Amino acid sequence: MTKAPRCDETVAWTALRGHHEAHGRTLDLRQAFADDPARFSRFSLQAPEVFADLSKNRWDEVTRRLLLELAEECQLGARRDALLAGEPINTTEGRAVLHTALRAPRGAGPFSADVHEVLDAMLAFAERIRAEAGHGFTDIVNIGIGGSDLGPRMAALALQSFCHPGLRLHFVSNVDGHDITPVLHGLKPERTLFIIASKTFTTQETMANAAVAREWFVAHGGRDTARHFVGVTTNVEAAAKFGIAETFGFWDWVGGRYSLWSAIGLPLAIAIGAEGFRSLLGGARAMDEHFATAAFAQNLPVQLGVLDVWYRNFHGFTSRSVAPYHQGLARLPAYLQQLEMESNGKGVDVEGRPLPFGTSPVVWGEPGTNGQHAYFQMLHQGTDVVPVEFIAVRTPSHGHADLHTKLLANCLAQSQALMLGKTADEAATEQAPTASKTLDRAVLARHRSFPGNRPSTTLLLQALNPRSLGALIALYEHRVFVSGAVWGINSFDQWGVELGKALCNQLLPRFQSGDTAGLDASTAGLLARLK
Ligand code: F6P
Repeated sequence: MTKAPRCDETVAWTALRGHHEAHGRTLDLRQAFADDPARFSRFSLQAPEVFADLSKNRWDEVTRRLLLELAEECQLGARRDALLAGEPINTTEGRAVLHTALRAPRGAGPFSADVHEVLDAMLAFAERIRAEAGHGFTDIVNIGIGGSDLGPRMAALALQSFCHPGLRLHFVSNVDGHDITPVLHGLKPERTLFIIASKTFTTQETMANAAVAREWFVAHGGRDTARHFVGVTTNVEAAAKFGIAETFGFWDWVGGRYSLWSAIGLPLAIAIGAEGFRSLLGGARAMDEHFATAAFAQNLPVQLGVLDVWYRNFHGFTSRSVAPYHQGLARLPAYLQQLEMESNGKGVDVEGRPLPFGTSPVVWGEPGTNGQHAYFQMLHQGTDVVPVEFIAVRTPSHGHADLHTKLLANCLAQSQALMLGKTADEAATEQAPTASKTLDRAVLARHRSFPGNRPSTTLLLQALNPRSLGALIALYEHRVFVSGAVWGINSFDQWGVELGKALCNQLLPRFQSGDTAGLDASTAGLLARLK
């Protein structure tokens, strides 16, 4: 790969600036739909398992062409190929980034023999636990944090209807004892399997919770720690030191936030079984192939990634709200926060040069319709424009058809309302039952008007199942890669979490000694009150 220019050094970047000034800033979605009856089909895409409607976004054909030219100039294709080939693109840690190898069929990807050996072993273990469910374990407790928690936790909730009915899954992540205490309460040691999940096996929170779990196990008459504690880690030695006999390994080329597909997925595999887990991998693999082979103009991760760049760097939007209209996807926003913000929340490019442009947006959200009755007010009438990403699932896994129709109608209505808005004149013609009868009608109409032209994307799945979930997550992974590659940053390190860890270790002994010498006055004052 020849040295690619950084995005702000390209011809396309300058062209995009001009295009934004001339057209992008003022593009009105209502007008765009009126002008182009084919806008929906022109700006929608079918990728494996995921249909995407991108037409309610504030872009036009010229924007999209220039964004794809930007991607070309930044050598996105070569960067993607380097990712998939296992080149050490995580330069600050000297590592390859090969989560895609974890979902490649046997013999098809890098490190295939290693990957499939662990996968087979972990799935065989999962099947054994499932087979014994009636008379063996009833409760599985995953202790891990960040990437060793968010993925399996999110996916287990999403795939609840596929989970073994005789096994309860628990997740403990926070070093706050209020997390583990209620989980342990009511568990029977002889019926409980603890999975200690940590890539490094050094993370303070996980190690502390694992120690509490082991103490509890022994104190409550638990015998045979080796049977009741298994490890998932790249640091098999540390797991053995902790006293864990059975470990499922993975490798330094699997980033924590990309590790759901590795042995970190063990609790999920226990819950949904080997077939379900392989189906999850299959869905992700289908999206990998789409990302690797589809032309940029038909490539969904590419389209979403460059749209993110357009919003962040040209429109100046600082956040994106994710609104899954499926209760099972309640943890998806939290999962995506780590995926996107830990990956792309960077301030220097790969060469260490400070960036003169913005990177990761704030990603946040709640399932619909709950969010509608909370923060959607701000999305509709607030002073900031926040692009919203709706995720809808056509077929529910419950039998309440009427509820599902209402849910879907709400989803479509929200993206419609964001786009259409309502003028003050329109509002003035209405009689709102709760509106003041005495307030000036023109003033009231302004309060009740909506600016509209607020952008959204809608992603549709036919059904939420292991395969479609795998494809959806892989779509997000690749989209984050695309915007990171265009920005010229390292999306695969996370140095930003180190300083807080180090300072925490320095503060810990001061909670014993009470020594505040050398601390800033605020930290000293707070410590004195908390000690
Ligand atoms: O502190 C951030 C982080 O390193 C994440 O990137 C990672 O997913 C998480 O901590 C947990 O790390 P580990 O799996 O090594 O315990």
